[in-house]
Amino acid sequence: MGVVILGTGSCLPEKIISNHDLEKRVETSDEWIVSRTGISTRRISGKGEETYKIAASAARNALDVAELTADDIDLIIVATMSSHMLMPSCACFVQKELGADKAFAYDVNAACSGFLFALDCGDKYLRVENNKKVLVIGTETLSSRTNWQDRNTCILFGDGAGAVVLEYQDNNRGVVASNLFSDGRLWNLLYMHTAPSCNPALAEEDNPGAHILMEGKEVFKYAVKAMEGAVRDLLTSEQIELEAIDVMIPHQANIRILNKLVSRLGIEQEKVFINVHKYGNTSAASVPIALDEAKREGWLKRGDLLLVCSFGGGFTWGASLIRW
Ligand code: UT7
Repeated sequence: MGVVILGTGSCLPEKIISNHDLEKRVETSDEWIVSRTGISTRRISGKGEETYKIAASAARNALDVAELTADDIDLIIVATMSSHMLMPSCACFVQKELGADKAFAYDVNAACSGFLFALDCGDKYLRVENNKKVLVIGTETLSSRTNWQDRNTCILFGDGAGAVVLEYQDNNRGVVASNLFSDGRLWNLLYMHTAPSCNPALAEEDNPGAHILMEGKEVFKYAVKAMEGAVRDLLTSEQIELEAIDVMIPHQANIRILNKLVSRLGIEQEKVFINVHKYGNTSAASVPIALDEAKREGWLKRGDLLLVCSFGGGFTWGASLIRW
């Protein structure tokens, strides 16, 4: 018995920004970006491609694959940290956009790990309410939260959305287990302010605005160690050997992080799905976009054991196993 992914979908904004385009904005080079990150291009939202709109597009694609309509959905969980408003939630805008009138909707913010955390919420909800259907979406327009003068960060991020439809089924497929973590003590290695406070008593001294700020080297080190630990612990607690994994979809942050993770785990490179070269780091959207592409490219067969893992600001991180 398990919570099964009935359909996947994704939506990438049309506009492509290459490393050569970035060479015109900051002091960088295609050679530096490719060799340090593996990224060649990323998508950037234009008019009509707000966070909730690309989320709704991804959701429509997932619903089509699942042969369902918005009316069938009972709950919408959106993982994001780049909604156009703080309130209402992005999920409420997605609900409106889809016309999913009977669904209740809320956001999860666990930065780049958001999709895994939201998937866990959907999984646990359906284990109680097991005749319902849930949409879980990761969506970001980090282009709106990027300091385009900061070469340490502006080369990394991209926009996009990915979605899955979940249902509880009486068989041995679906989410096997998840292993999720946070460590708020490390918040200041990767963070983003909101707008300055209207209450002077709560105003922060150096609030540069809602931009991503990052200690890249530190984040890199923690990301590899944390994801490796989460995966190893999960496999141990589920008594599953690494060799049993058929496909691994890690958070697409940086090819060097992924290569290090893959070699430390000792998983075969051919089992690891990678698309960071095309989209950069799309934060909470990265795993569901990759999942949708992997599915459409024939990586996943019924019964396969899928491993997903992620790492992001908070710090937040984790891993999940899914029997496809
Ligand atoms: O989802 C989690 C989100 N965050 C991440 O995944 C980020 C994790 N970190 C990283 O991906 C890497 O740390 C970066 C790609 C951000 C940076 O790579 P690095 O190998 O750690 O480079 P570095 O920060 O140590 O910088 C090396 C040099 C520095 O110059 P000096 O001090 O050696 O003269 C930087 O100023 O490269 C310089 N540099 C650049 N040069 C050209 C930094 N950014 C750039 C750039 N173009 N865009």
